[in-house]
Amino acid sequence: MIKIYIVDKSNLKLCNNDLVYYVIAENNSFKMREKALKIYNKILSSDLSKEVNIYNQIKESNLYTIFVESILLLNYKFEKYKSKKSSILKITYQNPELINKSMIEGVFIARDLVNEPLSFLTAKQLAKEIKKYSKKSFFKLETLNEKKIRDLEMGGVLSVNKGSVNPSNFNILTYKHSKSKSIKPIVLVGKGVMYDTGGLSLKPTANSMDMMKCDMAGAAAVVGAIYAIAKMKINVHLIGLIPAVENRPGGNAYVPGDVVKMMNGSTVEVLNTDAEGRMILADALHYAKRFDPKLVIDLATLTGSAARAVGKYGIAAMGNASNETIKLLEETGLNIDERIALQPFWEEYRLELESDIADLKNIGSAEAGHITAGKFLEHFTKEKEKPAYPWIHLDIAGVAFLQKPYFLSQKGGTGAGVRLLCEFIKNYK
Ligand code: BES
Ligand code: ZN
Ligand code: ZN
Repeated sequence: MIKIYIVDKSNLKLCNNDLVYYVIAENNSFKMREKALKIYNKILSSDLSKEVNIYNQIKESNLYTIFVESILLLNYKFEKYKSKKSSILKITYQNPELINKSMIEGVFIARDLVNEPLSFLTAKQLAKEIKKYSKKSFFKLETLNEKKIRDLEMGGVLSVNKGSVNPSNFNILTYKHSKSKSIKPIVLVGKGVMYDTGGLSLKPTANSMDMMKCDMAGAAAVVGAIYAIAKMKINVHLIGLIPAVENRPGGNAYVPGDVVKMMNGSTVEVLNTDAEGRMILADALHYAKRFDPKLVIDLATLTGSAARAVGKYGIAAMGNASNETIKLLEETGLNIDERIALQPFWEEYRLELESDIADLKNIGSAEAGHITAGKFLEHFTKEKEKPAYPWIHLDIAGVAFLQKPYFLSQKGGTGAGVRLLCEFIKNYK
């Protein structure tokens, strides 16, 4: 058994050894998380016991909570397909009431969904998984099938999925606290591209396509967050919208040059079939208007450009929500170490989307591709050229999936966005 004591500065003289660690709580969450990472890796790589007990010996319990939460977040492995399971730690800790287990469960749900390959997790299976989680928590699920999607004339969703033999679907998750007075919901939209080959604008297989099972990480974050918030019974009215498709170069795949009529009636000239996320999100953002939302947040692994701009260190954010809302999201991100980086959102970026033959085209120039993608989405958040609701777009392409372990996550799906949404929604009035 390994013991970890979280202590304060007056205990400076205590010495660590292989079986007992004294962690001095310093008033900085980032440092506490770094300490957790160091100790976790040391214990995991040693041949000593894999049983760990954590003790709280400080008055200001916030830093204790952060330490335990970080250790728990690190203690995850996706081993469903391994015949031989490697061990993770067995962790027990004092003051369990200080730890938000529902939120960590939500992060693990998102990671599991991202780590699942397409060979298991098709759109149909995703709906089944969401149903399973809805039964374990307190939210409802309605899944629209492809026929219904056709009736609704969701041209973006339909055209992206044309190259696949598997049908698309559109998932509507609802959570309403029994005492929630607010009729206006917060709507969360998640990109559910179960796999992104690029379509006919095919991605190169090496270094680019191999990780594209992660292209539904936005959807996974929405499921994980709604699961956790419902489990925590937060007093809020929440709706999740998840269009789920595959982007493939099949016999009937949409082609570069196609013009697609979207659900809102706009026409889009498709100049690159690999810019598919915005096509399905556009219909979902239009669909969101029927709920008269007080805020819409979409999460998407939308562009390589966002990943290049911010890297794995933060989420690229843009939108039209009030300064107050953006500030709350920024502060929340800093507090929980899921930072957001606000991008410029000038009119010039929108002008890049002007098409010769349709209302807009689906790609801009080579520069600032994540912002032109955001501008494409913005078009569908409007009604008669005015914003239909306050909206924030989070491009999580840089943070959703890791090629090697970093900070609080092992490699693979990180569950990015779940903690940010949980904490933000708790505090947003
Ligand atoms: N799913 C990708 C974006 C992506 C890149 C996600 C890296 C995760 C990691 C998206 O659909 C895409 O292919 N975007 C293109 C857009 C381009 C064709 C305008 C891109 O970013 O290259
Ligand atoms: Zn793509
Ligand atoms: Zn994609």
